[in-house]
Amino acid sequence: MTQLKPILTHLDSIPSTPGKFKPDKSSPYNLYRLRFHPTLFPRFTLWSFFFIFFIVLLIFFSSPTNPTTGNSRRSLKNSLSPSPPLGPNWERRVRASARPRSKTGFTVLVTGAAGFVGTHVSLGLKRRGDGVLGLDNFNQYYDVGLKKARQGLLERSGIMVVEGDINDAVLLRKLFDAVAFTHVMHMAAQAGVRYAMQNPGSYVHSNIAGFVSLLEACKMANPQPSIVWASSSSVYGLNSKVPFSEKDRTDQPASLYAATKKAGEEIAHTYNHIYGLSITGLRFFTVYGPWGRPDMAYFFFTKDILRGKEIKIFETSDHGSVARDFTYVDDVVMGCLAALDTAKKSTGSGGKKKGAAQLRIYNLGNTKPVPVGRLVSILEKLLKVKAKKKVIQMPRNGDVPFTHANITLAHTELGYKPTTDLEMGLKKFVKWYVSYYGSKKKKSSW
Ligand SMILES: NC(=O)c1ccc[n+]([C@@H]2O[C@H](COP(=O)([O-])OP(=O)(O)OC[C@H]3O[C@@H](n4cnc5c(N)ncnc54)[C@H](O)[C@@H]3O)[C@@H](O)[C@H]2O)c1
Ligand SMILES: *[C@@H]1O[C@H](CO)[C@@H](O)[C@H](O)[C@H]1NC(C)=O
Repeated sequence: MTQLKPILTHLDSIPSTPGKFKPDKSSPYNLYRLRFHPTLFPRFTLWSFFFIFFIVLLIFFSSPTNPTTGNSRRSLKNSLSPSPPLGPNWERRVRASARPRSKTGFTVLVTGAAGFVGTHVSLGLKRRGDGVLGLDNFNQYYDVGLKKARQGLLERSGIMVVEGDINDAVLLRKLFDAVAFTHVMHMAAQAGVRYAMQNPGSYVHSNIAGFVSLLEACKMANPQPSIVWASSSSVYGLNSKVPFSEKDRTDQPASLYAATKKAGEEIAHTYNHIYGLSITGLRFFTVYGPWGRPDMAYFFFTKDILRGKEIKIFETSDHGSVARDFTYVDDVVMGCLAALDTAKKSTGSGGKKKGAAQLRIYNLGNTKPVPVGRLVSILEKLLKVKAKKKVIQMPRNGDVPFTHANITLAHTELGYKPTTDLEMGLKKFVKWYVSYYGSKKKKSSW
């Protein structure tokens, strides 16, 4: 999760560096690589040169589709993207993916479906018979190959993931026109705490503008869907009262990421109040597991330990240990499904409120904070490799020293009850990691 990463992040271990990152999350990465790859250049024929020149012209003369991003590359992507031709065949696939197995099943739009939690939630929904349509912009915050592999996994279960941005109002309209979604599971966001210092705009783009764009589409839909979305434990910020309860103060965010999640909670209130949308926010606490996020500590520790690279372990200024309430992804998925199952219907339609609607917020944590040192020793045991550890003081750039969820409310109202401890969960993660990256290595050595 967002906070875990901070614990030990050292800039160079974040998978993407500022040079690799583009502020625009929907840029055509393949084209990019081609254009800027110096060793490829001499091999270009005159033809390729003209082709590229033409593309560059296109970039310069195409106007931004969304003035708030101010980035004209977005439109290029749309013209090159193979996935949404938006024709009748595309629409048929969209409908087929969203169709539930039974009459009582839900029809769910999952945003951020190629992301870590989005993938697991989509599979969970599909498995029990709900219809699922995914939406994801496949941005390069971390390895796009991993997102594509998750997409492959979803496709094999009959789930289509539309490639597009939640800021694309035209696309959202098309999706809502094609399918009467009963629910929206909104997982798309710019995650990570420290990256906000490199690319603050991406947080505003996805977590604030994107959320508003999605809520606008939901509010106009007829009938309006019920919405469940991912907030974050980071909203507790500098709050030092533990365990964190939903009623605790959340007005002291320690990072821009946290501030945008907090803003999301306030925006949810507005759309609930004005338009009668039923909205449930879930504050996730350091979610981990198979198909996880490479920017999080448990993930890059595993990678670095296996490579014999030194890992940096953060401690607080008074030499205390940094701890996180690690929550296994299957437990989080159970909480997400329970939130959908208990969500009341939105009351409005076509942009008009017809009565008061449900507005909820829940912690989804594990209630057992674990010091990072313990995380490392579990990994050492599972990987059978001793880690090269370096303990350093946690920089003050958005990380909080400690998270601990009070999950009484989610337990009472959602029946939420996490069952996987860190040892068991990491065992499943390591098993996935070794098979995923092990088999990749074999393939690429050809
Ligand atoms: N993993 C955690 O520990 C954790 C903790 C707290 C909160 N959360 C929240 O849970 C949600 C899921 O997190 P995750 O760990 O799966 O992250 P993730 O980065 O793996 O997934 C997010 C997905 O959203 C997509 N996306 C981002 N911006 C988009 C946009 N503008 N349009 C369309 N797609 C877009 C990304 O490509 C990505 O695939 C996020 O909202 C995150 O902030 C996660
Ligand atoms: C946990 O939250 C519940 C409300 O959901 C509250 O009644 C209880 O006092 C909290 N427990 C602690 C230890 O803070």
